Amino acid sequence: MAKIKSVFVCSDCGYESPKWYGKCPGCGEWNTMQEEIKETVKGSASIKKHSSIYSKPVTVSEISTEDEERFDTGFNELNRVLGGGIVKGSLVLLGGDPGIGKSTILMQICKSLSTLNILYVSGEESKRQLKLRADRLEVNNDNLRIMTETDVEIVCEEIKSSKPDLVMIDSIQTMMIKELSSSAGSITQVRESTNLIMHTAKDFDIPVMVVGHVNKEGSIAGPKVLEHIVDTVLYFEGDKQMSCRILRAVKNRFGSTNEIGVFEMTDKGLKEVANPSQMMLSGRPKGVSGTVVTCSLEGTRPILTEIQGLATQSSYGNPRRMSTGFDYNRLSMLLAVLEKRAGYYFNNMDAYVNIVGGLRIDEPAVDLAICMALISSLKDTPVLENAVAFGEVGLAGEIRSVSQAQQRVSEAVRLGFDKIILPYHNAKTIDNMGAEIVGVKNLRQAFEAISE
Ligand code: TYD
Ligand code: MG
Repeated sequence: MAKIKSVFVCSDCGYESPKWYGKCPGCGEWNTMQEEIKETVKGSASIKKHSSIYSKPVTVSEISTEDEERFDTGFNELNRVLGGGIVKGSLVLLGGDPGIGKSTILMQICKSLSTLNILYVSGEESKRQLKLRADRLEVNNDNLRIMTETDVEIVCEEIKSSKPDLVMIDSIQTMMIKELSSSAGSITQVRESTNLIMHTAKDFDIPVMVVGHVNKEGSIAGPKVLEHIVDTVLYFEGDKQMSCRILRAVKNRFGSTNEIGVFEMTDKGLKEVANPSQMMLSGRPKGVSGTVVTCSLEGTRPILTEIQGLATQSSYGNPRRMSTGFDYNRLSMLLAVLEKRAGYYFNNMDAYVNIVGGLRIDEPAVDLAICMALISSLKDTPVLENAVAFGEVGLAGEIRSVSQAQQRVSEAVRLGFDKIILPYHNAKTIDNMGAEIVGVKNLRQAFEAISE
């Protein structure tokens, strides 16, 4: 009998160690080490068994340089995030919170790719549930075959024998290799299952889309360890309570990772949002202090968003700072700059910042709008409704120039804004397109310009 050896594996980064740690030495996360039975030899043997092509070295000139073939998913937003469609033979991982719409988008892709033979493997839902969803989304595609199976080896046999054009796996956490004794969803199972699916798919050049669950507690393996294996990683973001969903590529071997796709969840599934700025600004309150519109750049696309700030008297000694959709540490920095360089005091105030619409912005170009929203709330003075502000705020309180200023101005003008507050250095080279352009050097100047 083989000797059973147990190891501790981090569910976040996959770090292995013979003993348990409270904090993973690999990635520094707490409480992510889980005990597992080590059986990688068997696991990799099963991969060898399934991988039929022996890869011989070739010279670079021997490799064909034809454009990779891509399938149009029927969604422009998704195509753009993928870099132009699903590449043949690629493995795409789709991550996101439960209920965000992962299964829905897979089913909708099946609907628009109705000419392809698609194998949809679900380990989560029954055939009946899938049928109900398909009916709701009006999918009646004869080339779509549904399989409710959790044994990866059976799935791979099916892929080998029927050679579909596209495979969907929902979700990887439910898939398992029977030979491995660890339970479904454990790191070993997830990793080995993905490996096996990938090798099978690559052998036949079949693209695969895999759903992966994210789990902060680490009780099931998050898709983090898979990110190294797959070609493309997409994340669905957004507030479940709101209809707006944002699809973002965090890794893409076949395209840029800057692009985002914007969708809206409706009663007939996900719909693309062609004009995200308009959607982000819908429901904006008028004549209220603490709300400012800014323009951030997501990939190649400028998007207008509303930034809300709230400053209130703190009832505790330690004032609260909270930010949604924006980096907390950067907010602390901006508050420090507001105090030290511009003379707006927040030391006994709670300060909240919210980026409306569930978008997460990491671009420094939104700094200026965040400062404007906070000052507006502090002074209880509304800013001009027709104004947009963007610019990076430096530690000396200076407003620094940002990239693609012209594109941002055009988007603002397109949506009817006619006063644009931007960094002084950007203002010199801008075509105003009929709007009033105000180049500012510091925060005080900017607030004067935006409030009158
Ligand atoms: P689902 O795709 O099942 O989420 P995931 O696979 O990411 O867990 O989507 C679930 C949510 O979407 C659920 O709350 C119902 C909602 N929904 C709609 O609003 N409209 C629809 O047409 C569909 C199919 C789902
Ligand atoms: Mg699902």
